[in-house]
Amino acid sequence: MHHVTEETIEPRVAAGSSHPPRVRVGIPAPAVDEPIEHPAIEVRKLSLWYGPKRALGEIDLKIAAKKITSLIGPSGCGKSTLLRSINRMNELIPRVRTEGEVIVDGVNIYDRRVDPVVVRRSIGMVFQKPNPFPKTIYENVAFGARINGYGGSMDELVERSLRQAALWDEVKDDLKKKSGLALSGGQQQRLCIARALATSPDVILMDEPCSALDPIATQRIEDLMVELAREYTIVIVTHNMQQAARVADRTAFMLAGDDLVGRLVEYGLTDQIFTSPRDSRTEAYITGRFG
Ligand SMILES: Nc1ncnc2c1ncn2[C@@H]1O[C@H](COP(=O)(O)OP(=O)(O)O)[C@@H](O)[C@H]1O
Ligand SMILES: [Mg+2]
Repeated sequence: MHHVTEETIEPRVAAGSSHPPRVRVGIPAPAVDEPIEHPAIEVRKLSLWYGPKRALGEIDLKIAAKKITSLIGPSGCGKSTLLRSINRMNELIPRVRTEGEVIVDGVNIYDRRVDPVVVRRSIGMVFQKPNPFPKTIYENVAFGARINGYGGSMDELVERSLRQAALWDEVKDDLKKKSGLALSGGQQQRLCIARALATSPDVILMDEPCSALDPIATQRIEDLMVELAREYTIVIVTHNMQQAARVADRTAFMLAGDDLVGRLVEYGLTDQIFTSPRDSRTEAYITGRFG
């Protein structure tokens, strides 16, 4: 996380003024957001339609590398749609049409020469409800890598991925005995994270990854996200504003207007969004007045 500087604002008394000076002592100055010079992902004028229904309106968003970015906003504002557009997952839904660009490593992933299967491999996704395959723990992690023709030691890859997902110690004796479905909800979600890590992604997208979990399992996933952000770019959707405040470096607030088209209202450092939102709609949302 960035620093919030403490600063004392000196009283300024205008000559001849009878007003008492306004003295504010020790109020943290809002952190100053630096421009994201080399974004891991740059969303440019992204619009999306489900059949005739438009769901996203010209979203522009730069996502910093090796940070956690959260997408927040009321239900139906397009958070999941925007997240899925970052790895072309929406195209698995019939009649979806996308306009605009998503630039990853200097390449527009919507360029017709780009293979969406390759995109989905380098940009992993974890869903709201843990969805392990009905296979052993080992196979859950190895599956994707094997399909991709992984040439190294599968045992090592499985161990490394499970360690990175903070699950290894809990499952190491059951790797080939136990089904992924036999794990607890929190363990299943960490298994899904291990499965995503096993295909060596650069980016991990998580759509409300804790919403089906209890507070302790949630805490473990949050700790894991922070740990993973040392190496990976992470984008999460969350309806839990405390979660965004706890883990995210930057937060994007989305809202669908009367036309039901989801738009980006405000984007900035998480501290700034939560302590000094610039847009009255952001303020209304974070103070719980709607959504
Ligand atoms: N598969 C789909 N087909 C048609 N409309 C969809 C589909 N998925 C989402 N939508 C619509 O797109 C809008 C945004 O949905 P979504 O991205 O799921 O929002 P959020 O994740 O913020 O709750 C909503 O109006 C929703 O009904
Ligand atoms: Mg959603």
